[in-house]
Amino acid sequence: MHSSERREAIIVLDFGSQYSRLITRRVRECHVYSELVPASTTLEQLRHEQHLDIKGFILSGGPSSVYDENAPSCDPAILNSGLPVLGICYGMHLLAQQLGGHVALARGLREYGPATINVSAQANHGQACRIFEGLTATNSLSVWMSHGDSVDRLPEGFQVFASSESNPVAAIVNAQGMVGLQFHPEVTHTPQGLHIIRNFLFHICGCAPGWNSSAVIEEAIEQIRERVGKERVICGLSGGVDSAVAALLVHRAIGDQLTCIFVDTGCLRANEREQVVETFSRHMHIPLVVVDASERFLSRLAGVIDPEKKRKIIGEEFIRVFEEEAAELEQEQGHIEFLVQGTLYPDVIESTSHDTSVTAKRIKTHHNVGGLPEEMLLRLVEPLRMLFKDEVREIGQQLGLPEEWVWRHPFPGPGLAIRVIGPVDKQRLDILRAADKIVIDEIRKAEAYRDLGQAFAVLTPIQSVGVMGDDRTYANVVAIRAVTTGDFMTADWARLSPDLLARISNRLVNEIPEINRVVYDITSKPPATIEWE
Ligand code: XMP
Repeated sequence: MHSSERREAIIVLDFGSQYSRLITRRVRECHVYSELVPASTTLEQLRHEQHLDIKGFILSGGPSSVYDENAPSCDPAILNSGLPVLGICYGMHLLAQQLGGHVALARGLREYGPATINVSAQANHGQACRIFEGLTATNSLSVWMSHGDSVDRLPEGFQVFASSESNPVAAIVNAQGMVGLQFHPEVTHTPQGLHIIRNFLFHICGCAPGWNSSAVIEEAIEQIRERVGKERVICGLSGGVDSAVAALLVHRAIGDQLTCIFVDTGCLRANEREQVVETFSRHMHIPLVVVDASERFLSRLAGVIDPEKKRKIIGEEFIRVFEEEAAELEQEQGHIEFLVQGTLYPDVIESTSHDTSVTAKRIKTHHNVGGLPEEMLLRLVEPLRMLFKDEVREIGQQLGLPEEWVWRHPFPGPGLAIRVIGPVDKQRLDILRAADKIVIDEIRKAEAYRDLGQAFAVLTPIQSVGVMGDDRTYANVVAIRAVTTGDFMTADWARLSPDLLARISNRLVNEIPEINRVVYDITSKPPATIEWE
C-alpha cells in the first residue's frame, strides 16, 4: 500500500474496560487495522487522520454506569455518521441511551462470568442475521458477561435479537448496522466471539482483510523513507526483539544511512555481544558499532547494593556511552538527525498520547561529559509505534530475524546487575552468566522456552554448606526463576517439570564449582516481582 492510499480501519473508543486493548488486537487478528482512541475523541478529530478510511466504530465496555454523573459519553457525530457501530457492554448501554433508549440497574440478576444467551427468531433476517452468521448452534450461545446494568427501553428502530435468562436484552440491532452486545465477544471465554467480531467487520462494515505483515512492512518502509530523506540515523540495539525489528525495518528503508550502536555493559548474558555482531553485522549487513564499556560500568557499580542505585548508574552511564559514540560517528560521517526507537503500541496507549507514527517529536539529551556538544537534538523514528508485540514478532520473522531472536524473552536494561543480588563484580557476573546459560539451554532443550514469559538464574548473596565427593564445600546459592505471564504486570511461577528442574540443578552444581545449592522460586507476582531486585 502506498502511504497516499487510505487504510481501512476500525476505531475502538476506549471507555475504560480492561478488555479495550484486546478488542483492537482481535480486530487486527482478523487482518483489519484498528486503533484504540480515548472515549472523548470526536469524529472531527478522526477526520484529520487522513490516512485512515474509517469503516466502523466499536464502543468498548467500561466500569461506569451510563446514568452516573460524569459518565463518559461518545461524540454524537460518531453515532450519526451513518457508519456501523458495535457497542459492547457499557458501549451498548451508551449506544442505547444516546439514541433515545434507557438503561437501568439490571432488574434480574447481575451477570458476571459465563452465561448462555438465546438467539431469537428475529435474528434470521437483516443485520441481526449478519452479525450471527455462520455460528454453530445459533439458537443458544455461550458468552462471557460482566455487567450490572441493562437496557430497559430500546431506542427507536432497534430490535432485541438475543436474551439471557436474567437479561431480556442481551443483543440489539437496527437496520443501519448499529449493534449492541451485552456480552464480551473479545474474550476467549466467549468461544464464538471472534467469529462475531469477524461478522461485524466483514458483513456489516464491509471491510476487506488487507492488514497483514507484508502490508505493514511496505507501508512502514515508505513512511520511514519519507520521514528520514537523506539524513543519517542511529539506533541503539539492546539484544531484544523490539529494537532488532525496528533496526531491520529502518535498514530495509534507508540502507546504510543507518548505523546501529550496541553497548556492552558487562552485564549481558553469555555470548550476547557475539550474537548481536553475528546477526546484525555478518548476517544482515547492517553497519554496527560495538562498544565495550564493561569496565566503565563495573567500576561505577563497585560496592553498590541498592537495586535502584544500580539501575540509575547503568541508565546514566548507558546514555553517556551512547552519546559519546554518536558524537564520534558525527565526527566521522557527518550530522545525525534521527534516533530509532522500538516503542510499541501498548506504550503509546499507556501514555494516552494519541498521535501517529508520523508525528514529529524532538527529544533532548543532555551531555555531562567534557568535550561534547552542550546538547544533542535527535528526532525520533518509531516504526513499531502502532504495533503489538505479536505483530512485531511476525514482522521480525518476515524480515529474516533468526527464530531464536524473534521469540526471545525480555531482558531488563540493567541486565545481570539486578540478578546478582548485592554487590556486583566481574567474577560474580561470570558465575551468573554461566548459570543462566545452563538454565536457558535446558529449558530450550525441554521445549519449554516459548511457553514461558521469562526464565533466568539469580545469584543470591547466600553461601551454603555442601558436600562433594569427600569434601565439604561452602559456596553460592543460585535461584531459578521461571514465570508464565501475558503482560508482565502479573505473573505466575511456572510449573516446570521436576525432571527439567533436576537436570538444571545437576548441571549447575556439576559444571560451576562456585555453586553448591539450587533453589526454585515459587512466588507469583504479586506479591513478588519477576526480577529479584
Ligand atoms: P518486575 O521485576 O517489575 O519486572 O516484575 C517486570 C518486567 O520488567 C523487566 N524489568 C526491567 N526492564 N529496566 C528494564 O528495561 C529495568 O530496570 C527493569 N526492571 C524490570 C523485567 O525483566 C520484567 O520483564
